[in-house]
Amino acid sequence: MADGTIKIDGRAVPFKKGQTVIKAAYDAGIDVPHYCWHPGLSAPANCRMCLVEIEPPPGRPKMTLDVLAWDAGRNDYVVAKKTKLIPACQQPCADGMSVLSDTSQEVAAARREVQELLLLNHPVDCPICDQAGECSLQDYWLEHDRAPKRMHDEPVHKPKAVVFGETIVYDGERCIMCTRCIRVSQELAQDPVLDMRQRGNRNEIVLAPGRELDHDYSLMTEHVCPVGALTSSHFRFKARVWFLRAGRTVCQGCATGCNAWLDYDPRDNRAYRYRPRDNEAVNGYWMCDEGMLSYPQAHEGRLETALVGGEDSELADAIDQARKQLDGHDADPARIAVILSAEHSCEDNFALAHLAKVYFGARDAFVARRPDGEGDGILMSADKNPNGAGVRRIAERAGFAEPKSMAALVEALGQGKYDYALSLGAAVDCDAPKAKERLAKLKGFVAIASHDGPLPSAAHIALPAASWAETPGSWVNAKGMTQRGDKILAPLGDAHPGWQIVVSLGRALGYDIPWKRRADLLDAMTPPSAVDAEQLALETTLAAAPAEVQP
Ligand code: SF4
Ligand code: SF4
Ligand code: FES
Repeated sequence: MADGTIKIDGRAVPFKKGQTVIKAAYDAGIDVPHYCWHPGLSAPANCRMCLVEIEPPPGRPKMTLDVLAWDAGRNDYVVAKKTKLIPACQQPCADGMSVLSDTSQEVAAARREVQELLLLNHPVDCPICDQAGECSLQDYWLEHDRAPKRMHDEPVHKPKAVVFGETIVYDGERCIMCTRCIRVSQELAQDPVLDMRQRGNRNEIVLAPGRELDHDYSLMTEHVCPVGALTSSHFRFKARVWFLRAGRTVCQGCATGCNAWLDYDPRDNRAYRYRPRDNEAVNGYWMCDEGMLSYPQAHEGRLETALVGGEDSELADAIDQARKQLDGHDADPARIAVILSAEHSCEDNFALAHLAKVYFGARDAFVARRPDGEGDGILMSADKNPNGAGVRRIAERAGFAEPKSMAALVEALGQGKYDYALSLGAAVDCDAPKAKERLAKLKGFVAIASHDGPLPSAAHIALPAASWAETPGSWVNAKGMTQRGDKILAPLGDAHPGWQIVVSLGRALGYDIPWKRRADLLDAMTPPSAVDAEQLALETTLAAAPAEVQP
């Protein structure tokens, strides 16, 4: 709900109380050029790129400054009046305020001058700079300057390729001293490990004595750097950003479920990096390093082909073998253990819970999950699974009691309580060797998983599921919010969406599961709703969404 309206170049823009002009413009999709301002950080107003003109209220004079202007006729400087421009990142909105941004000659001149100043000592590194293609300095030069360089002196030279830590490399010559990286360290990571030293054009960013840039949000310094001064050791020189496409997804690293873009190259079907996707209700503008560096899991450690007795197999043959392995499972539903997975999507878990409850009549559900780690009170959750809350919801809806732990399953297996098990996911948070040993002794154990791990490696038959990035899916985060991700990459090898594998297996076992398309599954999961319709529309359009420009 807006608290008032301002005008920017004649366009009405709503604002909330306390918002600055630049934030109101940003929320309305209007770019007021800026370097030092970032929506998730404090505003030092040191770059002056966001200067705008505020029109005076009716009957009041314009605010002006006395300046010296060059008078060519007199061949001398003369006193003149200049419109006083205001940094939009510091100016609070007031109802009825009229702001001139792209329609003021004075503002245009100021932007040109800031650009020229920033480029005086900047190296022409663009052909070898990783930021090329998403660099604010490049973009704003094209939009607001386009003038050749007038200074021909030797530029100031500064340290290049300084290793700030395991993840970040610094180039002092490209740095425009916006201080965003300093503020990310202080305000987000709460670790003031970066600072600025020297003055004027000798400024540079430095580490605190004896320190490395090694906090858990070090990659956010690179993410907010508007130029190529900070580069990520993992991404530098790996790809040109104009070849990349961005898919909407949710980080799978913990129960926070940070919203992310997964940048991938469609030519080689490979993921190249994560970037945070703004969501003020979940992750703000940020992701932790652990999550940012988890994108290779789209390719690494994957179960790409079906395994029968540990040997590669065609998927259809493996499903047939699974049918044989589970022969006799219907004799006593109490002897089937169903293992849901906090690593897999709601869709995959729903399909397995549905097969187990409706068709098998199974009584006991368990949950396989990665072991807990450490939370940090900033973003990182101690629960390192993306969908623990989703599994609990789905199990309850399917009519199971709260799913029991894997440790409880291992104990029950030791007592000979089960003959068959059907599992989703790879990881376990219990004694993995003991779990593997006991599961392997069952009459039939079939695992469906996107990645390798204790469960598929112990299974008699392992069936390859698509990863989180290869099929649309939803996950419920620690706050109980259902979040959706898109199909971004083509599935590797024989991988198919986990729910489809469950359906194929169910049909092979003789059950008449009616779902033919994902829409049928979604209908079964929830009555059709506006959200599902929106999601289905997204699925068809977002696979090739263009990369987003950084704030
Ligand atoms: S390294 Fe980047 S983020 Fe840090 S001050 Fe320089 S330009 Fe800004
Ligand atoms: S906090 Fe959790 S969900 Fe967010 S980026 Fe880190 S690992 Fe991923
Ligand atoms: S964005 Fe830098 S001064 Fe406003």
